[in-house]
Amino acid sequence: MADNRPIGVFDSGVGGISVLRELRRALPHEHFVYFGDGANAPYGVKTTEEVIALSTKVADFLLAKGVKAIVIACNTATAASLHALQAYCPVPVIGIEPAVALANTLRKEGKVLAMATPGTIASARFAQILKEHGEHCIPMPCPGLMEFVERGEVEGDNIRRYFENLLRDVPRDEIDVAVLGCTHYPFVKNALSLHLPKECRFIDGSMKTLAQLKECLQENNGFCDDGSEGALELHSSAGETSIRHMQMLLELP
Ligand code: DGL
Repeated sequence: MADNRPIGVFDSGVGGISVLRELRRALPHEHFVYFGDGANAPYGVKTTEEVIALSTKVADFLLAKGVKAIVIACNTATAASLHALQAYCPVPVIGIEPAVALANTLRKEGKVLAMATPGTIASARFAQILKEHGEHCIPMPCPGLMEFVERGEVEGDNIRRYFENLLRDVPRDEIDVAVLGCTHYPFVKNALSLHLPKECRFIDGSMKTLAQLKECLQENNGFCDDGSEGALELHSSAGETSIRHMQMLLELP
């Protein structure tokens, strides 16, 4: 038994590429269809209802492509719409969430800095994560940060000033682990690392998402076995420039 249909992956823009590249590395024979909803980004400052409506539209697009599972490669959309999409879609739906639990296990004596969109930080799911694992966690909403990645502005004076301002009141020397709780943030890790201690570790939720996807394919006898190298279709509501941007991000080491 096998299932040669593609896996759908989506985000509010190009950020989900940070998840897609891990999925493709680990599952090189799987076919993927990616949708970046750049025309409606950012999701992180929208209401839960707005994000559910947008995510459902994207899920419809992916379902029409005949996907066997959907990965929400967006922490904000997961927090707002995972349960709604799981109820709505006839295929398994997997999400991503800020890796605060993992960060807690990697922490030494210091603190965990959990960076995410305002929507994720304000969500019920994040409140639950903090309740369970957040004793040493500093939650840090980062309005405007995903836009740097969407613009391709991942270094330079503007982002340096952004981080200076964002982290002004944070006890930076105490940060052991920084949680990149938005799928755009791995692409600004280098710029961010200049503002945190050298030994600080940076983690995100993509490995947990990968583990959940593998488990789901395993349970459903759903791995692809057509013997080909995994194909990839990229789609964006923000047009060709955004697709070229995704291709560029996919090629980063
Ligand atoms: N990449 C998204 C996330 O992981 C959110 C960016 C946004 O649309 O605000 O949360």
